[in-house]
Amino acid sequence: MNEIDEKEYLQAIQKESAFWDHFNEDAVAHGIPHWLDLRKATPLNREIWSPFDDPKYEEILRGDIKQTYLKLAMEKKGKALDVGCGLGWLALELARNGIDVLALDISQKSLQIAREYYQKEKPPGKIDYQWADLNHLSLPTNEFDLIVVWDVLHHIANLKGLFSEIRSALKPDGRFLIFDHKGMEEKNLRFYRIFHYFVPAAPSMYFNKIRFWLENFGLLRRRRKEEATPTKPVIADAPFEHHSEKDILPLLQHYFPGIHLQTHLCFSMHLAHFHRLPKFGEYFFLRLLKRLDDWLIRRGYLTGEYFLALYPPPHKFGVRS
Ligand SMILES: C[S@@+](CC[C@H](N)C(=O)[O-])C[C@H]1O[C@@H](n2cnc3c(N)ncnc32)[C@H](O)[C@@H]1O
Repeated sequence: MNEIDEKEYLQAIQKESAFWDHFNEDAVAHGIPHWLDLRKATPLNREIWSPFDDPKYEEILRGDIKQTYLKLAMEKKGKALDVGCGLGWLALELARNGIDVLALDISQKSLQIAREYYQKEKPPGKIDYQWADLNHLSLPTNEFDLIVVWDVLHHIANLKGLFSEIRSALKPDGRFLIFDHKGMEEKNLRFYRIFHYFVPAAPSMYFNKIRFWLENFGLLRRRRKEEATPTKPVIADAPFEHHSEKDILPLLQHYFPGIHLQTHLCFSMHLAHFHRLPKFGEYFFLRLLKRLDDWLIRRGYLTGEYFLALYPPPHKFGVRS
């Protein structure tokens, strides 16, 4: 770990696992999050609102990507590794298709919730949930037919160590599948900053926008941050959130030469987080926005904030690239 020293690291990683313990315990107290069970997910009614507490948002924005990802994963039989499983939706889907999975995560509470849910669901494949720090991982050589990672790599400080373990643990004819965040490009942000004014919004958004402009022109006193959202408790992000985002793609290409990459979601995830659609027609507008997003990427006007990667590269990749 070159960027931070070991003592600092230990403190940060404890906070990271505490964050995920708390995040996932709180989620399951309010329903079935889609990151526990994709098929039986229910909306979560939490005080701190996130668009992805609504499984419909996930389905509209990333449902097609998940289907492609799962299809590519299910083509492999044998033994799988889920790297950073969280509550384990992905391991569960694999096990439902008869695949045995070793599922690793740093959050003990998440592993415990996932394990209990798996025991209730009894899928045909076996899942072995184990605690592991992916920054100090040691895996057996030539062990896995399939290695999957969904939305975890941008939290990892030692990507080089992790990738070299994955490369040696993957069987010679094995498959490595990744979905992760690569960051929002400046061009996308410029597009978003103008475009979002044309997207229908919930009334509260219009109040906020008017207030923002009045504050900017000095016609209204600028509020302090805590005044702006007085009722919402503040929860800091996980300490390693976005930590290694910019390094993922160059390192993946180095450790897995020829890896196939495809980007997704150039503005709509950002919009889902920062913009509230009106309740009436919400899903209709979201679908339209997702179509526009796909189109902008397909035509090469923008690249996605997220990517899906497949190694070894396929002769035919079953989706648009
Ligand atoms: C955004 S969540 C994704 C979880 C899961 N893959 C999913 O799709 O729901 C990121 C996960 O990475 C795990 N994580 C973060 N840093 C880790 C580390 N150093 N070692 C193991 N797991 C880690 C967290 O505990 C969390 O469960």
